[in-house]
Amino acid sequence: MSQSNDFTPAAGRFLPTSAYDRLLAVLTREARWRSELLESLAPRNGERILDVGCGTGSFAILVKQAAPYAEVVGIDPDEHARCIAKAKAAAAGIEIEWMSGFARDAANFGQFDKVVSSLVFHQVPVAEKQAGLAAMFAAAKQGGRIIVADYARQNSWLMRQAFKIVQSADGRTNTQPNADGFLEAELARIGGVSVTAEWSLDTPTGTISIFSLLKE
Ligand SMILES: C[S@@+](CC[C@H](N)C(=O)[O-])C[C@H]1O[C@@H](n2cnc3c(N)ncnc32)[C@H](O)[C@@H]1O
Repeated sequence: MSQSNDFTPAAGRFLPTSAYDRLLAVLTREARWRSELLESLAPRNGERILDVGCGTGSFAILVKQAAPYAEVVGIDPDEHARCIAKAKAAAAGIEIEWMSGFARDAANFGQFDKVVSSLVFHQVPVAEKQAGLAAMFAAAKQGGRIIVADYARQNSWLMRQAFKIVQSADGRTNTQPNADGFLEAELARIGGVSVTAEWSLDTPTGTISIFSLLKE
């Protein structure tokens, strides 16, 4: 498997990462899916929680605010995104560990009660989708949970058209496998169980789904 250090940044290939938070709010019905993701993660004080591809930190910050005595670690390969995340956490007065890393590195940061990722896997190469999901599974403790929110299979004609906005920003090669159902198939392969979205939301840029897997 290739171990490229290239990555697609948060706002895609053509726009600066500084524009990401504003774009996301408008283009993904962000408040709706983030609150559902938080409910699915159900963070508890005392837990160790890893956010893979944490980007500008919005979700990790919500997690820490919901469970102030949880240990929250965010990893992302993009230094600029991590700087924005760090500034946002400092402004909110909370402490999160922001580390440099790819999804495939997830298991190098120890063992976690919950490992989460949002809007990352649609924009990474297939080899990284496989290695990253496997590393998230490896980073979860026995009995721990892996939760992924992302653009996965796009079921309707309308959502396939809407997803073309994401495909033009992030490239078709990495995004099309998600639209064709790669994410659910790979999670099922890794977990050894059948996996369907526990929740889905149609947005102006395609359907965003949440998947939850228990490590038994
Ligand atoms: C669309 S942003 C999502 C950020 C954040 N999770 C959120 O919910 O707003 C995708 C993030 O994935 C990061 N990324 C890209 N390739 C990655 C990889 N192979 N492993 C981990 N993160 C990656 C990017 O740097 C970017 O910050």
